[in-house]
Amino acid sequence: MTAGTPVHRSFSGGGRAVLGALVLSSVFLLAGCARGCTSSRPPIHLNPSMDNQPKVRPQSASTFFYDGSGMRQPVPGTVAIDGLKEDTAFFTGKGADGQFVTTNPVTLDDTVLERGKQRYTIYCQPCHDARGDGKGILFQRGNVPTATFHQEKLLKYTDGQIFDVMTNGQGLMPAYRWPIPPADRWAIIAYIRGLQRERQARIASAPAGAQTAPAAQPATTDKPADKPAEKK
Ligand code: HEC
Repeated sequence: MTAGTPVHRSFSGGGRAVLGALVLSSVFLLAGCARGCTSSRPPIHLNPSMDNQPKVRPQSASTFFYDGSGMRQPVPGTVAIDGLKEDTAFFTGKGADGQFVTTNPVTLDDTVLERGKQRYTIYCQPCHDARGDGKGILFQRGNVPTATFHQEKLLKYTDGQIFDVMTNGQGLMPAYRWPIPPADRWAIIAYIRGLQRERQARIASAPAGAQTAPAAQPATTDKPADKPAEKK
């Protein structure tokens, strides 16, 4: 009886008698049906080797690390492939001093301007309209006040500030960080600057009457119904 019971105990229970009994039974087993014999019982594992060893499963706890988490954070300063963004002016619109950059960090040429126009048409024109007057679909359908690029405030905005609005959004203006990569955002800014310059040049070369009307006056000159064409 004493010889039979230990066999059913844990393998590591030890003792020569146990080992002997096991070896004996395995020999019988091998002799009985050799390999390929199916059984509903767990296999006899004479030499576990490194088959079973402690391990950490994903998202599980661990007492090994101080923070109790089995999974590790990347080493501080790790940079993902293509993830190095040292050029803060280009990626955030802010210089190393944390201030908005005043000028476009991208070298502007015809290709960039063409790209800017194209991206503007896709992403900005629906709301800000083709001329940048903010009379797009939001204004037309919902009377939503949409900023015009020709107002004093935005004429004074630095390129970095416009980049920031596009990147992070502002008020009702959505963020375009994901659909528009940084290079395209700068190209759009170059195009908007072109729109602004064009408008300023037109105002400057307008007939004396319109020219002498400063910011305060158009409100009154715009109102009369007989002068609706003046604004366009
Ligand atoms: C879905 C409509 C919509 C689209 C598309 C859109 N805007 Fe706007 N934008 C607005 C509205 C509305 C405002 C006014 C936000 C406010 O004052 O709350 C605004 C304001 C702005 C302002 C002024 C923010 C300020 O500080 O006063 C800038 C600059 C601007 N948009 C740039 C852009 C550019 C560049 C694009 C294209 C990438 C763009 N917007 C696309 C709706 C839009």
